[in-house]
Amino acid sequence: MNDAPETAQVRKLFGIDTSMRVPVATPPPELAEHVPQIDPAYVFDPDVTLAILSGFAHNRRVLVQGMHGTGKSTHVEQVAARLGWPCVRVNLDGHLSRLDFVGRDTVVLRDGVQVTEFAEGILPWALQRPVALLLDEYDAGRPEVMFVLQRVLEREGSLTLLDQSRVLHPHPGFRLFGTANTVGLGNTSGLYHGVQRLNHAQLDRWSVVAALDYLPAEREAEIVVGQVPGLVGRDELVSGMVQFAALTRSAFAAGDLSTLMSPRTVIAWGENVEIFGDVARSLRLSFTNKCAEDERALVAQLFQRCFDADLDDVLPATA
Ligand SMILES: Nc1ncnc2c1ncn2[C@@H]1O[C@H](COP(=O)(O)OP(=O)(O)OP(=O)(O)O)[C@@H](O)[C@H]1O
Ligand SMILES: [Mg+2]
Repeated sequence: MNDAPETAQVRKLFGIDTSMRVPVATPPPELAEHVPQIDPAYVFDPDVTLAILSGFAHNRRVLVQGMHGTGKSTHVEQVAARLGWPCVRVNLDGHLSRLDFVGRDTVVLRDGVQVTEFAEGILPWALQRPVALLLDEYDAGRPEVMFVLQRVLEREGSLTLLDQSRVLHPHPGFRLFGTANTVGLGNTSGLYHGVQRLNHAQLDRWSVVAALDYLPAEREAEIVVGQVPGLVGRDELVSGMVQFAALTRSAFAAGDLSTLMSPRTVIAWGENVEIFGDVARSLRLSFTNKCAEDERALVAQLFQRCFDADLDDVLPATA
């Protein structure tokens, strides 16, 4: 990225009513493959998009929090795609070790001699480049990995490689984003097994926290139709599907269902309708079979309310 990057109007790029400008750039050729592909059908949520843009334009550390499948990871990627900013996603799950993340000494052959060389992990690699590093499943990271981030989360925060006695300073184009299902209090809803309680000194370092939960029905319908071309023009079906998803969410909130339908599952349901041509069969394959046996009667009732058809008549509960 150049010293004085070109900027573009957010209004033009994202259709959001604001005077904010954002940098756009042509990445160095070796990083071009890391710029995400633009999804032209992507539907931006203005609040979340602006929060993410503040991360790119003003080097804020932005954490996007919300329930599963609401578009947190893809939102960051799609903003990066439109800015031409390389973006690398790392899953901070329980398997990512500190050595993977920071780097480790490895033995290599050089001119027939075995020498020890430091192989950089993804964090120092990204830190030294104009790259947006997206820490996915931030709340599932192992504590020893999370503590490495403590300093990097500060805006000019450098990274000290202790075993290397080196201090790395961030590239001016380095950006850091995170996504999480919880707000650091652990698995309070019962839905997010494997998440950790987060250290508040660390949570405190995220300068912008955006919430992305379920969207209004019309917006969700727009997203589904955008992602599943076979549903274009089938408005009644799509509105029934979105209504059904909303009912599962209310049933979950009321404690009547132990699972709920995320926007990702609504899209998968739509894709299955394209494949199987049958709304009920597709629902069973994308959702009902994930529900506990004794909850399927309720799922059938919700289906009846949205589609005026009997889920179990069309197909048995298990197949
Ligand atoms: N606003 C949107 N416009 C278009 N597609 C969307 C939108 N939001 C979500 N999707 C689609 O929904 C799916 C799930 O999105 P994504 O993986 O970003 O969710 P997430 O919030 O990161 O989920 P998780 O918490 O499980 O990681 C993707 O296939 C994405 O393309
Ligand atoms: Mg995600």
